[in-house]
Amino acid sequence: MDRQLEIELLDELRGLSAERSFFMDKEIHRSPVECYTSEDRFSKEKQAIFKAMPNIAAHSSQLAEPGSYLTVSLVGTPVLVARNKAGEVNAFVNVCRHRGARLVGEEAGCKHVFACPYHGWSWDNSGSLRGIPHQDPGFPGIDRAQYGLKRLPVVERLGLIWVVPDLDAEVDFDHLIDPLEADFKWMGMDGMAIAATDELTSKANWKLLVEGGIEAYHFRVTHKNTIGPHFMDNLSSYRMLGPHMRSILPRVAVGELGDVDQADWSIRDTTNVLYSLMPTDQFLLMQDHVAWIRADPLSAGETRMRISTLVPADDLTPDRQEHWARNHAITMATLQEDFDVNEAVQSGLETGVNTELTFGRFESALHRFNVEVEDRIGL
Ligand code: FES
Ligand SMILES: [Fe+2]
Repeated sequence: MDRQLEIELLDELRGLSAERSFFMDKEIHRSPVECYTSEDRFSKEKQAIFKAMPNIAAHSSQLAEPGSYLTVSLVGTPVLVARNKAGEVNAFVNVCRHRGARLVGEEAGCKHVFACPYHGWSWDNSGSLRGIPHQDPGFPGIDRAQYGLKRLPVVERLGLIWVVPDLDAEVDFDHLIDPLEADFKWMGMDGMAIAATDELTSKANWKLLVEGGIEAYHFRVTHKNTIGPHFMDNLSSYRMLGPHMRSILPRVAVGELGDVDQADWSIRDTTNVLYSLMPTDQFLLMQDHVAWIRADPLSAGETRMRISTLVPADDLTPDRQEHWARNHAITMATLQEDFDVNEAVQSGLETGVNTELTFGRFESALHRFNVEVEDRIGL
């Protein structure tokens, strides 16, 4: 983010605050309940969005060394991501080519050869078949080149490893990642490392969990005992970055910027900046760290969440561990409030009381997000 944009975004919110106004659309919008409850709708989203777009499988720091690997589930596809001797990252479906066992069971580690736990076929970390026990009598004439691990489209950019969990996908990665480049470089994403991670399953549709992050209407209510008092009441703005969204969530200090020399304005010091990447990852930029919230949808009503605290790698020292652990705990406590509310929303949707969710004029980011989803599934 360049300095000019930083000032503009802050000035917009400062002005709205001074006028006691909000960042608003012209009209209210409605979102049908079936969008959050229908398995048919979910399966369309899975095919047209989650399996057709890059998911962030890892931060580059998780695969720092040649030989390092990790496993992750992306919308039901078991994925093995590995860095080879040349430093290149490959992504494979984590399934043995012999009779289909899960090839790698560990979450992460470092090795150059993966041997299947069932009959011992083995592959190197570029996906080439290395060994078949008793090959000559058992598999005469087998063409080993046909039995490489099945590759998934992958790129490493901006300090992140992006994988499309579909063997047949043809994806223009740059088209989807380029709009984030300026902001993610400014944020220093490629120089970060993970200080703490938690995982949980939320009984809520993945879109409810995104929607809960891109409006500040609920801050003073849901988060009254945690972060709410530190933020301006019901004030936020957003811009699209390609299919992704950058939301600015101003803290109370933005209301006082009129008394501060513009040269001293800092968006990091006075707001939280939330990047909601279509489809699955949110990055919440705070003063000295980033909360990375990744959603792996399991069904219309259930979403696996992984929440990591990313910090500057050179600040991940033993004496700072407690500071980062405390920040991670604050993030988790706040998000738990969101998860609790959204689980109740999901079960409330099933009652039939509402046929649609109603988005107020200052909740227009939610409508814009749903437009993006609907465009992608061809509605
Ligand atoms: S299933 Fe993997 S070696 Fe047989
Ligand atoms: Fe929230």
